Amino acid sequence: MTTERTLLYTGKSKTIYDIGEKDVVLVEFRNDATAFNGARHALLEDKGRINCAVDAFLMGVLAKNGIKTHWLKRLGPTEILARRLDMLKVECIIRNRAAGGICKRLGLERGRVFSPPLFEFFLKDDALGDPLLTEDHILLLGLATQEEISTMKVLSYKINDILSPLFSEVGFDLVDFKLEFGYYQGELFLGDEFTLDGCRLWDQKTGDIYDKDRFRQDLGDVIEHYKQAALRLGIEV
Ligand code: C5P
Repeated sequence: MTTERTLLYTGKSKTIYDIGEKDVVLVEFRNDATAFNGARHALLEDKGRINCAVDAFLMGVLAKNGIKTHWLKRLGPTEILARRLDMLKVECIIRNRAAGGICKRLGLERGRVFSPPLFEFFLKDDALGDPLLTEDHILLLGLATQEEISTMKVLSYKINDILSPLFSEVGFDLVDFKLEFGYYQGELFLGDEFTLDGCRLWDQKTGDIYDKDRFRQDLGDVIEHYKQAALRLGIEV
């Protein structure tokens, strides 16, 4: 796209541009992969394009199921137009099974099923290493109101109820995922992204990993697995 653009924000794997319209932004999905709070970095060819396609598909599924999302339209292979949200500075995590951070933090066995699924808040703050937050911490820091806390939890569980069966139908366990919300015209919308960078996806039969843990754990064939996951979901990449 040749839209006139001004850089607003450079994240670890996406760049946000102003395109001269008040209510929208252009989001570019880049090939950068990072882990351990930026300590590991690589450029993975095709990642931006695959993430953009997977995000478009899943945001579309969520929108069809009544979730308000920032996603508006695809502008190119790695670019979307999105509503400009005023983001809350918390990350919402849903865990259907134990993996990653919670195993380290609580000494849980990897793979343990959580029924009901577990919800956690984290502070969006790289300098502090994104610490776990209790609801009282959120209120203390003024990051969100009690009502916003409840809304984010309800929306996160609803998104899990929509996406877990979708992945399960094509043989994947949606182990966990991260969501971020923000305000648009007085209402909370889902922002950021839903890609294989921000969730864990395990093959139900083999246990094979199809998400960013391949990069974090140096398992190899990261993009090959991202592509295969997309294809199994019926997404053209
Ligand atoms: O690291 P942890 O186990 O807490 O991550 C839980 C889920 O949230 C994983 O799917 C991970 O990819 C995602 N996550 C993320 N961005 C973060 C932290 C976690 O996408 N900053």
